[in-house]
Order: sequence, then C-alpha cells, then structure tokens
Amino acid sequence: MGKHLNLPPGLVTLADHGEHARRSLDARTWAYFEGGAADGITLHANRAAWEAIRLRPRVLADLSGFDPGTALLGRAMAAPVLVAPMAHQGLAPPDAERGTALAAAALGVGLVLATQSGTPLEEVARASLPEPDRGPLWFQLYWLGSRAWVRELVDRAQRAGYEAIVLTVDAPVQGVRDAERRAGFTLPPGLESPHVPPVAKGAKLAALVQQAATWDEVAWLASESTLPVLLKGITHPADAALALEAGAAGIVVSNHGGRVLDTLPATATVLPEIVSAVNGRVPVLVDGGIRRSTDVVKALALGADAVLVGRPVLHGLANAGAAGVAHVLRLLLDEFMAAMALCGKRRVADLRDAGLVEAPSRP
Ligand code: FNR
Repeated sequence: MGKHLNLPPGLVTLADHGEHARRSLDARTWAYFEGGAADGITLHANRAAWEAIRLRPRVLADLSGFDPGTALLGRAMAAPVLVAPMAHQGLAPPDAERGTALAAAALGVGLVLATQSGTPLEEVARASLPEPDRGPLWFQLYWLGSRAWVRELVDRAQRAGYEAIVLTVDAPVQGVRDAERRAGFTLPPGLESPHVPPVAKGAKLAALVQQAATWDEVAWLASESTLPVLLKGITHPADAALALEAGAAGIVVSNHGGRVLDTLPATATVLPEIVSAVNGRVPVLVDGGIRRSTDVVKALALGADAVLVGRPVLHGLANAGAAGVAHVLRLLLDEFMAAMALCGKRRVADLRDAGLVEAPSRP
C-alpha cells in the first residue's frame, strides 16, 4: 500500500522513472526487465538511432484544431501510443497486468497483453473495457502448442473483448540472455502463466523449434480468426511483403527491444524500408527504445502509424503500480503534444512527413 503513495518528487521523464526503478528493484528483476540479448548491441542501437535523427520543423504553421488523437483498426486513441506486450508483470506486484491495463485505458493509450501474462486475460479486459475513452485492447500471441490450442486461446481473447491478435514472430526460442544469467534471474515460484500450454512450459530449444510457426500457420491464423492479426517482430522488408500475402492486418517493426537476437539493426533504421514495402496497405507500428515524444514524432515522420512503449511502463509499474504507469504515460503524452505543436503539426496524420526528419543512419 505504502508503495503507491511513494512516488518521489522529481520524476519528470521516462528516464527518471527508469533510474528510480533501477535503484529500488532487486538486481535480478532489473536484469530481466532491462537486459538485452548477448552484448546488448541492438538494445543500445535502438536508442542511439532515435537520438541520431534530427528534426527539421517549419515554423508559424496554423495550429488551430490541434488534436494528438488518432485511430488504429477502427478504434480511437488519445495519441499514437500503445503499451507493448511484456511478460510476467507479476514481478511488479501487486497491480501487475491489471495496473498496466487500468492506467493505459485511463490515459486513452492502447494495450497489448502478453501471452505470458500472469493475470488471466479476462481479468485484464475487465480493467480496461469499462473505460469509455480507452485505446485499443489487443492480445499478443506466441505460437505455442498446437493449432487447437491457438484457436482456443484466440477465441477466448475474442470472447473477453480483445480487438486484435498480435502474433510475435521473432522469438520461436529465447534469446541469449547473458545479463539475466549473470544476475542469477529465475522466475520466482508462484508466478503463473495461465495462457501457456503445459507442453510449452519449461520446454527446451530442441522441442520449441519443432513446434515453431511458419508462414503457413500465419495464413491459417489470419483466415481462421475473425480478429485482425498483426505480426510483431518484422525487420526485413521481404518478410513484410510475405506478411501481407499471408493476410496480416498490420506489422509491428520490432527487434523485441534487443532481447532476442543481438546485432539486429535498430528499428528506426529499418522502418523506412518496411513502410515502403507495405505501401499504406496496413498499419505499420514500431517499437524499441521509444523514450521521448520526439522519438514518437520521428517514428511517425518515417511512416509509422503508432509506436509501442515497453520498459518505461514496467518502470512506472515497479515504482508505483497503476499510478506509476499512468504517470509514465502522462509524461509521454504531454511531451508528445508539445513536440507536435513545436513541429508545426496539428494532426497526427500531418506528422507523416519525410521532410520533418533528416535520414537516419545506422549507428
Ligand atoms: C518484452 N517484450 C515482449 N514481446 C512480446 O511480443 N512478448 C512478450 O512476452 C514480451 N515480453 C517482454 C518482457 C520484458 C520484460 C520486456 C522488456 C519486453 C518485448 C516488447 O513487447 C517490446 O518489443 C520491447 O520491449 C520494446 O522495446 P523498449 O520500449 O522496451 O525499448
């Protein structure tokens, strides 16, 4: 209880929340939340790439009718921002996934719930759906077990009110998590994974690669499901083209926050290739290292429709539960409105302007 009243003064940026979380969490949980795969080259490249892009705004634009809101797959949202799917939020008790969902809904931000949520998806939906101005509510799916299992889980998500499925395709097996191993991180006993089939629990790489999805499974899922299916973890334009052929309703350009395969390029640097391959046919989202509203502006200028934010949400959750997540999202949204106005843009759609950014280079 005390923890919720304990948000210290002076947290004015997402980085401040990160620093506070680092100091207050135990080193093992911090390694799980924060760590990148192997040497962390992609983890750092994500940040460096957004930072390296320079903005070239025009001044004295007419800002009347200013509106930071947008819509994705038919649902309105307060800003082009969603909370990325992140497993095991029970590591930040007691609010965990419910706290994240409540805060996102209250702020009008979208939420993607992870398959590896410790809270049953129905309970998370109940925290989100009653909020009239909530953003989209999507369910992230790992291809685990069998088609029958996947069908059952997707049906269950749909019955609970989820509006899209986000199939994560970049992690058929876990990345090489040196930081976690060094810190001795293991999932604490009692942390449930109610959406993971028994056959996949604790499965080793040799078993996981046997069950890994292919484009056939994507096409099957897209035709089987009445919910739109987005693919998360696309970093190659040829895969974006295959995703569209398979019936994907959206693409999330992501390297999993640098947690899976190290030395992938930063998402900011591959985003333009993917936007051009998709050519406006479906929404393109991007994540990885979004920490400032100027990063959001740059992502949209390069052609993304929205961004997902990962770790800062966990920092807020660890710092002060649902209130901490709300604070993190509020900071980002306030900053976003300022950045939009300072870039002379009154609508989110107007941010899609290649002239607003200098071309990104590979860090
Ligand atoms: C993740 N991410 C993730 N992605 C996914 O599709 N399914 C998952 O279960 C998880 N779990 C997860 C746990 C933790 C602790 C983190 C930090 C991340 C990846 C996540 O959705 C997103 O792609 C990145 O976190 C975005 O990068 P930033 O914003 O964290 O830099």
